[in-house]
Amino acid sequence: MKKTFNLLAGTAISLMLSVPAFATEYRIAVGDGAGGTQEALGKAFVAALEKESGGAMTGKLFLNGQLGDEQDTITAAATGTLDFSILAINNITPFSPSVGTLTLPYVILSQDDAEKVTQGEVGQKMVDQTVEDAGVRIIGWGYSGFRVLTNSKKPVSTVADLQGLVVRVPKNEIMIETYKAWGINPTPMAWGETFAALQQKVVDGQDNPYMTVNAMKFYEVQKYITDLRYIFSIEPLVISESLFESLSEEQQQQVLAAGRDATKASGVFLREQESKIRDELVARGMEITKPADDEKEFIDLATSKVWPKFYDQIGGVEVLNGVLTSLGRDTV
Ligand code: MLT
Repeated sequence: MKKTFNLLAGTAISLMLSVPAFATEYRIAVGDGAGGTQEALGKAFVAALEKESGGAMTGKLFLNGQLGDEQDTITAAATGTLDFSILAINNITPFSPSVGTLTLPYVILSQDDAEKVTQGEVGQKMVDQTVEDAGVRIIGWGYSGFRVLTNSKKPVSTVADLQGLVVRVPKNEIMIETYKAWGINPTPMAWGETFAALQQKVVDGQDNPYMTVNAMKFYEVQKYITDLRYIFSIEPLVISESLFESLSEEQQQQVLAAGRDATKASGVFLREQESKIRDELVARGMEITKPADDEKEFIDLATSKVWPKFYDQIGGVEVLNGVLTSLGRDTV
């Protein structure tokens, strides 16, 4: 963090306007490029933080992984060398396995599901668990939509079509096992290396939401999209727990309120933008294929083979059942 002189509020003026002359500016790491969910969440958070704190706290976004790869930002925030980070939830899972429940394939089936789970009791338990496991506190939730599969080689609509493709996945065991259940051995790779790997054809494809495919300009190096719905991407905003604890009670409440505002704004952003972005990707030459048979083969393989492997890691089958119950679905 750093103290910045607020040009609008020199000392004399600030006394009149009750805006502090010096604002504390926090550094916010953002994994993705401009125009996506993560940037929108970050901008909404900064605006809300300035408002809540009367201008005493603000933030600066560093896009495109400038402050480190997504998984590395968790370590940096935990050790107090970074203030905030916005990243995909699958990149928190290695540090706090309980959030893996939200990356189990086909658990979150809609934006409504994602908002209900994260903003309810289940989400609060995950916040507490993440503080304990990873030393970061989730204070806001971004919603990015389903992770669709992209590749440079061919349209994919069945599990058989997938065979032979080299697909990059995050370093996330659940996602690795999901592709294995679909019959291929994926290539785990850091987010920051993904564009270059696609460009240099080290890998043929990857999966991420439409919003991210666009923000990262993957349309320049990928042609085919398969409209999979296996993971709804949730993109948390986290604060270093040591920073959070160093704030006064009043400042903590301001940070939390700003996080809640940004969460709401993210839901609206996705509802307004996703279909527009999908159309833009098509206009840029990408081709969208629907999975055959309403994705049944993908769903059956992933849920039957992957879920049971992770019950222990997520804290027991009852954790998954808690999420399913909160969504009004049958338990396992
Ligand atoms: C990943 O694939 O590693 C993440 O989903 C990237 C992101 O944050 O968009």
